Amino acid sequence: MTAAANEIARLREQINEYNYRYYVLDDPSVPDAEYDRLMEQLKALEAEHPELVTDDSPTRRVGAKPADGFAEVQHEIPMLSLDNAFDDEQLHDFDRRIRERLNYKGEHLQYACEPKLDGIAISLLYENGKLTRGATRGDGATGEDITFNVRTIDSVPLKLRGKGWPQRIEVRGEIYMPKAGFEALNDRARQQGDKIFMNPRNAAAGSLRQLDPAITAQRPLEMCCYSVGIVEGSELPAMHDAVLKKLNEWGFRINPEMRVVQGIQACIDYHSELAEKRGNLPYDIDGIVFKVNELALQERLGFVSRAPRWAIAYKFPAQEEMTVLQDVEFQVGRTGAITPVARLEPVLVGGVTVSNATLHNADEIERLGVRIGDTVIVRRAGDVIPQIVSVIKEKRPENSRAIVFPDHCPICDADIEKVEGEAVARCTGGISCPAQSKRAIQHFASRKAMDIEGLGDKLVDQLVDRGMLQSIADIYRLEAEQLAGLERMAEKSATKLIEAIEKSKQTTFARFLYALGIREVGEATAQTLAVSFGDIPSLQKADEETLLELPDIGPIVAAHICGFFANEHNNDIIQRLLDAGITWPAPEQPAEGEQPLAGKTIVLTGELNHYSRSEAKERLQQLGAKVTGSVSAKTDM
Ligand code: IVH
Repeated sequence: MTAAANEIARLREQINEYNYRYYVLDDPSVPDAEYDRLMEQLKALEAEHPELVTDDSPTRRVGAKPADGFAEVQHEIPMLSLDNAFDDEQLHDFDRRIRERLNYKGEHLQYACEPKLDGIAISLLYENGKLTRGATRGDGATGEDITFNVRTIDSVPLKLRGKGWPQRIEVRGEIYMPKAGFEALNDRARQQGDKIFMNPRNAAAGSLRQLDPAITAQRPLEMCCYSVGIVEGSELPAMHDAVLKKLNEWGFRINPEMRVVQGIQACIDYHSELAEKRGNLPYDIDGIVFKVNELALQERLGFVSRAPRWAIAYKFPAQEEMTVLQDVEFQVGRTGAITPVARLEPVLVGGVTVSNATLHNADEIERLGVRIGDTVIVRRAGDVIPQIVSVIKEKRPENSRAIVFPDHCPICDADIEKVEGEAVARCTGGISCPAQSKRAIQHFASRKAMDIEGLGDKLVDQLVDRGMLQSIADIYRLEAEQLAGLERMAEKSATKLIEAIEKSKQTTFARFLYALGIREVGEATAQTLAVSFGDIPSLQKADEETLLELPDIGPIVAAHICGFFANEHNNDIIQRLLDAGITWPAPEQPAEGEQPLAGKTIVLTGELNHYSRSEAKERLQQLGAKVTGSVSAKTDM
């Protein structure tokens, strides 16, 4: 081999290894910059030596458009579907049927339990370790060839890792879109007036049906495998879970929640456990799949019509349901944004009663073509606010009414303004609009801002309605005697609240800036501003150009910050807050060496033992890290 060929082989191996750590094991080993650098080197070398380019090179994920669309693929081994169970009894029946059929005398059958991912079933064929075909399930017998699209998915290996894989192996699994990626995709689409997807499953399906792989490549898709089809040339382990572990070694993502249990009761327990976890998982699941773990037993059980006898899907309550839109109200947010809120005939969605859903803005109402009285589909997933995803037009009653967007604020009657090119309409009442001041005060007192315990949303509403609070500065003038007269406020809680207000005066500069509620200034930007300016006067003097030099601050954010400090009223409030005694430790200007995490992007998930999430976040930021909410290509840790 020439030196160039050697170097190309070395780079590919290194990049594939980093990819595997990142996309399959969820355990990145190097910063993005290092990865990007290797990729650039490889691209440059391949450009110099086109004869050395191969299809399985990591630079070749996005190829040309196929000339004649999607070709048909005949599945050599049919892709089956699953029977469903909806309650514990049906699961017990399933176990009983199998044991009878097997004449099983042992106490417990061993089952593999896996979340049922809500995406698109996929078949990937590897010949001599190379991906040669990716196909959809289709009707189970005939699918579509979408090789050029699956190649763009980073968790689909173009080449198998390690050794011992069969010469011909078909890996089956699910391609899905994680929730965070789905929300971001729809948010962007909403801003740009593009097509909105109903749910992550639709988004995944739509992304895979693109005729241009460059588009698919931009969609946040992942692949997780759950079984094999064709296996030729060597034997696989005797147990389902061991096969999955092999596939994991060969480069595939497997579900980290997968577990092997003894007996059907343990399956039921697993189902309840995952039902609790469901909302917090980063992807949608619609149930749990239980499979007899021993492959020889699977073989003996076989299948009826289109479903195996050895597996069953125990479904969760659906996340989408039908109901009627009874009315639409308009809420006013902290920055005056007017949000249409759907009042729905209450309906149980995913086990929770839903009676409100967001309609986002006027464009969304138009896009949905929804009218009051319509039958709609609502979707609720985890912590996300329920949404109306579509309208069943055939069910529209004769007396349906159009939704009329107000031209005056429903709270303070000020004009509503719509900025050209922005989807939101805003109340122009500013701080004189009680709805806006309520939201501003609630934000100021919230946990990530000034963290005033006991000053909850309901109490703020009451205080504003009674004229006891008009702006955030008034909080520090509240007295225990005044508070004690309020609804549900005993003397003791009044004293406690005053203490909490007093305590909040000792804060950090970043928290204070975040608490001010400057538009587009979230926690991360507040932290950047705090570190860069160190005190209020310097920040008040900063112009847009200076702000634009800071990381992550673009023209829109810079304009909002300057606009905020150009407003006398805002400066006046800041002065009153400082006069009330709000202070923070003087900025330690840490030397370069004292920011060991500078330039690193870190994601915090799960439960922490010794810190709250926001404490850990603050500490990490002090050490120079950027802390974000979800894993992306930029994440270091
Ligand atoms: S096993 C014969 N395992 O559910 C085995 N399927 O309703 C059939 N699915 O088309 C598949 N997660 O797309 C299996 N862990 C999992 C799954 C899973 C999702 C999907 C799959 C299949 C459908 C069957």
